Formats: sequence, C-alpha cells, structure tokens
Amino acid sequence: MHTQLRIGLIGAGGIGRHLAWQLRPLSEARLVGVYDADPELTQRAATELEVPAYESLQAVLDDPELDACILATPPYTHYELGMQILQSGKHLFCEKPLALTVEHCDALLQAAQQSGRVLMVGQVLRLFPLFWQSKQWLQEGVIGEPVAVHLQRRGYELNLFKEGWRADPAQSGGVLLEMNVHELDYLRWLFGEFEVVAAQGRQPFTEPNFIQHWHALLRFENGVAGDIECSIIDALGGYTVRIVGTEGALEHTGFSGEIRYKRIGGQEMNLTPEEIGTPEPYMWELRSFVRAVLYNESLPFDGYDGRMAVANALAVLEKITG
Ligand SMILES: NC(=O)c1ccc[n+]([C@@H]2O[C@H](COP(=O)([O-])OP(=O)(O)OC[C@H]3O[C@@H](n4cnc5c(N)ncnc54)[C@H](O)[C@@H]3O)[C@@H](O)[C@H]2O)c1
Repeated sequence: MHTQLRIGLIGAGGIGRHLAWQLRPLSEARLVGVYDADPELTQRAATELEVPAYESLQAVLDDPELDACILATPPYTHYELGMQILQSGKHLFCEKPLALTVEHCDALLQAAQQSGRVLMVGQVLRLFPLFWQSKQWLQEGVIGEPVAVHLQRRGYELNLFKEGWRADPAQSGGVLLEMNVHELDYLRWLFGEFEVVAAQGRQPFTEPNFIQHWHALLRFENGVAGDIECSIIDALGGYTVRIVGTEGALEHTGFSGEIRYKRIGGQEMNLTPEEIGTPEPYMWELRSFVRAVLYNESLPFDGYDGRMAVANALAVLEKITG
C-alpha cells in the first residue's frame, strides 16, 4: 500500500466536486482522476480539479494505479456502482444514502467484507461543529442522564426537490432517504438503537411525488423518548435540537447559530461553531477514510451506520404508509 492513497472520483456534480476540493489539503491522499456519466461534466471537472478524465467507468475499475473511489452519484446508482467498485478491489467512500433498500445495503457491506476493503458512508452531519459538540457534552454528562430529545429540521426546499433525479422517488428515495438519513443517523449516534413508535407524513403538493413534511415518535433502547419533525415546505425554516437530561438541558441550532446547556440551578454555557473549531466536516470525514485505509484507524462512522440510517428511514416510511 502506498503512503498516499490514490483516489478516483465518480460523479462530478455538486458534492463530488466539493469532496474533491476537500481532499486537496490532505497530504496522505491524492485525487488521480475523475469520471462522470456526462462526458462534458467529466471534462469540466477534470480541468477544474487538474486531474485526468476517465473515459468510462470500466477505465476507473481497471486502473491499477487506483486504491479507492469516492462515489458521489445519485442514490439509485449507489448499489450497482458500489458493488462494481468493491468487487474491483477498491476501497469505497460512498455518499449517503448507502442504497435505497436494506437488502442492497447488506449486499454492499458483504462485498466490502469479502474483498477486505473499507466502506464508509458520508453521514457527515455528525462532524458539523454543533452536532459534534452535543455528543461531546452528552458524553461528559453535563446534563446528567438523557431523558428526551426533540429534533426539528425545517426549511423551504421544495424547488430543489422538483429538479432532476431528486424529484423521482425511485431515484432519490424521497426526502427521508435523500436528506433525513442524516438526522436519523445523528440521533442513533447520540442515543443508540431505536424503534419507530408512530409516524405521520403529508404531501400537500403534487410535485415532488413524495412526503414533504413528516414527524415521528421514537423510543430508544436506552429509554430516551424522541420526536423528530422534518419539512421541506416550511417557509420560516430553522433547525433545533433540544435534549432534556436529569441534571440539565441542552439545545443547538444545527448548521449555524450556537449550542448551549444549562444545569439545573446553574449558569448557562454556550459555544459557537467558531469557538468549537473542529475541521471542515467533509475534509474531516475524508481524512478519516484515508487513515482507515492506510493505517487501519477506526472510522467515526462506517458502512453499517449508513445501512442503519437507510433501515430507519424505511421504518419511518413504513409507519407513515401503514
Ligand atoms: N453529505 C452531504 O452533505 C451531501 C450533500 C449533497 C449531496 N449528497 C449526496 O451525494 C450524491 C450526489 O448528490 P449531488 O448533489 O452531488 O448530485 P448532482 O446531481 O449534483 O451530481 C451527481 C452526478 O452524478 C452523475 N452521474 C449520474 N449517474 C452516474 C453514473 N452512473 N456514473 C457516473 N456518474 C453518474 C451525474 O451526471 C451528476 O454529475 C447523492 O447521493 C446525495 O444524497 C450528500
């Protein structure tokens, strides 16, 4: 194994190019080429990223100079492309959702195990500063034993979901698989496995043809009572996570804003993302992937976490549709 991991990018859209840029500061990794199903995009990305363009997927799979792939294509392609990448003997960083069915997720996990390759799924939400800090504070016990969690992710994102592959539930999996796997993964990271007790979903607009607003009651195995509400049709927007514990309460506001906690009868403590000062989340997850391959370091989240996020999203959908 080289001390510099040689990585190919498959899928040169929004997140693929962002990930490629985040690889740059990593001395232990190098982007060696790019491939997209759209030849024009492949060329444009190759020029932008200053790497060669692959002519075909087969050329990527056959390249003996390649150790690993970043797969940043739409969800419905992850299973087939992921299987081919792993079976060609390359390590795989796959964007979320890992796949659109639990069976496909399991097949990918099995392929990784059989080939002895690392499979990581981009459940990057955990590495955003306020999300990361909430876990640290919980582990330090600042609010005692957690009792209940309330998470709301709201925004008006209907137009994004009306375009391209995102609009087709067969290609994106709808909002639960395409977006809220992040929230379901985050909650499972905080409190462990859970059961979906009840869920409701609404689709007030015909396009896109899937649930646009949903909420669910969750019961965690450790006793925590949870509820989660996610919306792509809420004009006011906003992100809130509130956790109540036996000795205090904690709240944060998602991607920006602040995180704070108050112990019962105590002072309030608060931090901003700048004060937390964690690395750029996408760079951080890629660095973990690279170091897991090169030095066998443990991953902050892995293929199984990606699989569980998909399984839980499907469990919510099943409750909604009965
Ligand atoms: N972790 C995050 O924060 C985050 C953010 C955005 C997107 N994503 C995920 O990343 C993936 C891609 O999202 P995006 O916003 O970059 O989409 P995008 O549409 O901008 O890019 C996807 C690219 O994949 C290409 N493509 C499609 N099928 C292909 C194939 N068979 N082989 C090669 N290339 C193919 C398309 O031509 C396109 O350029 C999705 O799974 C999405 O959920 C994750």
